Amino acid sequence: MCEGANNRGGNSCHSESPCGIGDGHEKASKIMKEHHLQSNLDFRLMSMEFGLRDWLRPPVKILQEAGVCSGMTVLDFGCGPGGFSLAAARMVGPQGRVYAVDMHPLAVKSVRAAAMRKALNNIETIPGNGLVDIPAGSVDIVLLYDVLHDLSDPIPIQMEWHRVLKPKGILSVSDHHLKGESLLQMITGGGLFRLADHGRRLFQFEKAKTPEAAT
Ligand SMILES: C[S@@+](CC[C@H](N)C(=O)[O-])C[C@H]1O[C@@H](n2cnc3c(N)ncnc32)[C@H](O)[C@@H]1O
Repeated sequence: MCEGANNRGGNSCHSESPCGIGDGHEKASKIMKEHHLQSNLDFRLMSMEFGLRDWLRPPVKILQEAGVCSGMTVLDFGCGPGGFSLAAARMVGPQGRVYAVDMHPLAVKSVRAAAMRKALNNIETIPGNGLVDIPAGSVDIVLLYDVLHDLSDPIPIQMEWHRVLKPKGILSVSDHHLKGESLLQMITGGGLFRLADHGRRLFQFEKAKTPEAAT
């Protein structure tokens, strides 16, 4: 059932630079090397592949299964080219908000460009992986689609997902690179989240503990 809303609006980009993709090739390539990011060519190839994936399996269907509704605040962590961010922005509508977060400079750039083209002014792009500007307890659903396998140390970032989620917020995870058991272990092992529901494609987690209790 759909409930929950966050009335902040505005298509914006977070303060720190590479919102700033345009800020300079040198800076972008330094970030890419430091974080072992895909090359721009690899990212573009992935975007084409995801275009086909999203045509065959529309993100809106997955987001409905995840529980995304009008007025919600959604965080798409590792948004990539933005198939889920853009679909979520349409679903949450003008009263809702989508944070699209990605370490790859081309990801935030393409999501921002697509949001402008489609006049979706409820998407905020956040370059990098820091969520410090997102208020605690403000997010209804964190999307973690096809990203978990990429995270070398998921605990610190899990604490951030836990912080930004509302008390009844959901962490929605899908990762075809991981077996179900490893995925469950990676998310529940830290003690911050517990499994709430498991569908054909999605694992839905809810908050289990305060971060202090988990350490
Ligand atoms: C395979 S893509 C998935 C994109 C999107 N979630 C989807 O399914 O369409 C993974 C994305 O996660 C991003 N990523 C990986 N690790 C990250 C991290 N620690 N913080 C932010 N983004 C990350 C990558 O740059 C890449 O764009």
